[in-house]
Amino acid sequence: MCGIIGVTGAAEPLQVMLDALALLEYRGYDSAGVVLVDDDRLWRRRDAVRGHSLETLREAAADAPAHMTAGIGHTRWATHGAAVERNAHPHCDCSGTVAIVHNGIIENYQELWDKLAAEGHTRSSETDSEVVAHLLERELATGAGLAEALRRCVGELRGDFALAAVTTREPQVIAAARRTSPLILGRIDGTGLVASDIAALLGTTRDLYQLADDEIAEVRPDSISVVGLDGQQRGLVPLEVGWDLVAARRDGYDDFMSKEIHEQPRALADTLMGRLHVDGTTELEELRLTGSDLDEIERVVLMGCGSAYYACLSGRIAFEHWARMPAEVEIASEFRYRDAILGEHTLVVAVSQSGETVDTFHALREARRRGAKTIALTNVVDSLLAREADGALYTRAGPEIGVASTKCHATQIVMLQLLALHFARQRGAIEPEEGRDLAGGLLALPGLVGRAIARMDDYFSVANRLSEVQDVYFLGRRVGYAVALEGALKLKELAYVRAEAYPAGEMKHGPIALIDESAVVVAVATRGRLWEKVMANIAEVKARGATVVVVCGEGDEETKAVAEEFLEIPVVPELLSPAVAIVPLQALAYGVARARGNDVDRPRNLAKVVTVE
Ligand code: F6R
Repeated sequence: MCGIIGVTGAAEPLQVMLDALALLEYRGYDSAGVVLVDDDRLWRRRDAVRGHSLETLREAAADAPAHMTAGIGHTRWATHGAAVERNAHPHCDCSGTVAIVHNGIIENYQELWDKLAAEGHTRSSETDSEVVAHLLERELATGAGLAEALRRCVGELRGDFALAAVTTREPQVIAAARRTSPLILGRIDGTGLVASDIAALLGTTRDLYQLADDEIAEVRPDSISVVGLDGQQRGLVPLEVGWDLVAARRDGYDDFMSKEIHEQPRALADTLMGRLHVDGTTELEELRLTGSDLDEIERVVLMGCGSAYYACLSGRIAFEHWARMPAEVEIASEFRYRDAILGEHTLVVAVSQSGETVDTFHALREARRRGAKTIALTNVVDSLLAREADGALYTRAGPEIGVASTKCHATQIVMLQLLALHFARQRGAIEPEEGRDLAGGLLALPGLVGRAIARMDDYFSVANRLSEVQDVYFLGRRVGYAVALEGALKLKELAYVRAEAYPAGEMKHGPIALIDESAVVVAVATRGRLWEKVMANIAEVKARGATVVVVCGEGDEETKAVAEEFLEIPVVPELLSPAVAIVPLQALAYGVARARGNDVDRPRNLAKVVTVE
């Protein structure tokens, strides 16, 4: 997580940094800070009022010295050290002439500190990051330039990191390096730029470049040079981007989450566009798997974290049911530490909105190491995950800024369903007619999701009546269970309400002991193979006094009759229902969170991109 910006050569480097940090804040907002440099001194301002630090920095800008040559800035998601000002970046060395910003984790920081302390360095924060400022101080003292000093430091670091550094000795230079954590370079009209994220630079330039693992960049106002850890010169690799900044703005909605919920029909339509035809044929060239490659695949493993993992749970059912393939689902953060049995006949699909989630990235790398074929299913073109995998499928949802995933979760589900249909057709697991029906069902989803969104006011009324809830249990079966899990996660992360999801049939094996008159149970009770069983499970919790809310099909009076509250959605075939059924649960979490005065775009303790383990 954490956002990084660096700028050299601009007339007003502080303004460029503040604008970029506003776009990077979704990566973390525990604190923010900037440093400006010239050949005489560093000017540093930091603030750690959660979610409001940028306002303080803007006020401080009035006192900033003029004619500073370069600067680096940071917005933090705290890992090592509390979210207080002394731990906010940028961090300085003992002499106050070197400053650094960092995203990631330096795993061997304690060991490095012990050595630096023995050499007489003193620290002023509890962060792992500060160690880099002191390592640079040590290397600069040998007469090395800043980029060379950083190259030597990188050789000593273990872990994942993106770093940018400045010093008064070379006030026009920003030195930058990365390993796993993202960092990109840019330039425009005598200004050199460094950022952790495309979103931060899109409004400024399209002249963007990649930096690979263990490469070190020296960015000057009119030049960028890159070397490897071995000191050998590397070429500049351009970065292609398709998004524009307009798409990353709120467009009149109160917040990004609301905008992104409403964008779901468009996002789903874009995800399917050109890839699925009404006759049931599919075109997924991006897979880079030939027909015979597909034939050789015996098993599919889907993996992701959080909402991406729940999308995989729906995807698995589609693979098993339509493609008749063994399919498993893995929590990416656990997978790497198992002794998973994979081989060349296994296809691993790693699902990640950001394509940067370090748990998913390492899980994919581990799968490759074990010989599996790999696909990144991600929303970010050319992201770490996309570059690591054998093939990439992009969800085309556009930028998702709200920290809680909405449109990207929906597009992940539908992309996995499309992939399952692709396999089903290639392998002859379904008749052409069934393929046509499924294609019709998938192509209808954007419209059905739009119809659910049109009921938003009804959903908000339910949310307002439930705004004081304490404990909520989400129940579902089959794909309904995946929807229940995602609904519970949304309520937890946005409304800070204790919410647990169970497969409805599991309640009687223990959790039902928790149910009494104070419990609220949200049951996904749309019609499908197990509807009657879900109704029986609802009766069990009602008998213990729970207040029941059902997600059900429009006009399903029988289901509505058993509930105190209902969230109706358009009628949709069971296996295609998750992308539609999740809409009222997104709205429920959003409505309860707003009623409680919570910041829905930036829930506490979270960050949009999770680049630490
Ligand atoms: C929840 C949410 C997270 C992410 C998870 C994975 O609303 O957004 O659970 O789904 O952190 O992130 P990506 O998809 O970027 O790998």
